Amino acid sequence: MPRLMQCCISFSILKDFPRIFLGKELTPFMVKRGATIRNITLPDIPRLMPIKNQAGWNQIPGDWARLIRLNPGGCFCIQVDGEIIGTVTTTPVSSKMAWVGMLVVREDERGRGFGRMLLNQAIHYLESRGFTTIFLDATPVGKPLYLSAGFKTRGVLKRHVINTLNIASLEMEGVKGRLREFSSEFMDSVCNLDKKMTGYDRRDVIKSLVSPETSKVHLKPDGTVDGYIIWREGQNFTQVGPLVAREAEIARVLVICAMSSMNLDVGCIDVPSERQHFEIFLKGIGAVPAREFTRMYKGKHPSFTSDGEFATSGPEKG
Ligand SMILES: CC(C)(COP(=O)(O)OP(=O)(O)OC[C@H]1O[C@@H](n2cnc3c(N)ncnc32)[C@H](O)[C@@H]1OP(=O)(O)O)[C@@H](O)C(=O)NCCC(=O)NCCS
Repeated sequence: MPRLMQCCISFSILKDFPRIFLGKELTPFMVKRGATIRNITLPDIPRLMPIKNQAGWNQIPGDWARLIRLNPGGCFCIQVDGEIIGTVTTTPVSSKMAWVGMLVVREDERGRGFGRMLLNQAIHYLESRGFTTIFLDATPVGKPLYLSAGFKTRGVLKRHVINTLNIASLEMEGVKGRLREFSSEFMDSVCNLDKKMTGYDRRDVIKSLVSPETSKVHLKPDGTVDGYIIWREGQNFTQVGPLVAREAEIARVLVICAMSSMNLDVGCIDVPSERQHFEIFLKGIGAVPAREFTRMYKGKHPSFTSDGEFATSGPEKG
């Protein structure tokens, strides 16, 4: 790591120490000496997985690799006595907006200020680079920390789990003609649609997720794209999303298509709670609500709406 970056990171840790020492519930002896924050690199991934697994999360090594490749300078771990004990990632989704994800601290090191240090590191990294709005999807455990760091609630996401066995027999013939493999020829149209329907400008994220076998676009009669879906392998479930469409009917077709392609796997899909009719549809095909996330933001209020977002790409990057 360049020396200047090391200095910056050490300084940001030092900046946090007085606050941690003076914290109401935290006492000085609870903060271990020698904690350093550094960038995560690809060879670290096997050491990150057990910490992530303690939280029961769905990400696989490929998800870590994607986050690191999307923003190598903005993914951090905290290390004590040579051991990684916590992580946080940042992912730009446009020139002014970014996502914070994968904030997790090893169970035996929680409650000692490391989570806040990592979050501060992520915020400092993004703000110093001109990002004016920071988003994240908070677990119930993380939410109090984010509130105290100035994040505000934007909405709620509900995770539904669905056994695709229920879907395999659904009739697809009528819609197959309007579904296509998400090949590179559709990339521009998908990114334009995504920006229009969600307010995000996440071309790099979409490009990093797409693969012809695990994504589909839906076309209007004139051949333009009016919806897309991407799904990918997860540790516990196949993660279904992002799912973006002009209309709920298109979202329904895309999700059935994805699930019927998933080879009898179990899927999870994170749906904004405003998409109530879509949730009712999911329940109708056997989906079961599993958990909730709170979508939060810090900084400039996001003026756009995300009416066409039927499923996120996962809590680590929205
Ligand atoms: C959320 C998490 C990262 C916090 O890490 P941590 O190192 O324990 O957090 P800190 O010690 O820095 O504490 C941060 C604040 O949360 C509070 N806090 C920590 N653990 C808490 C608990 N179990 N219950 C209530 N408050 C708690 C602390 O009091 C502290 O507040 P303060 O600074 O005002 O005193 C950690 O609990 C974790 O890894 N959880 C599982 C993964 C997860 O859900 N991550 C959030 C993703 S959105």
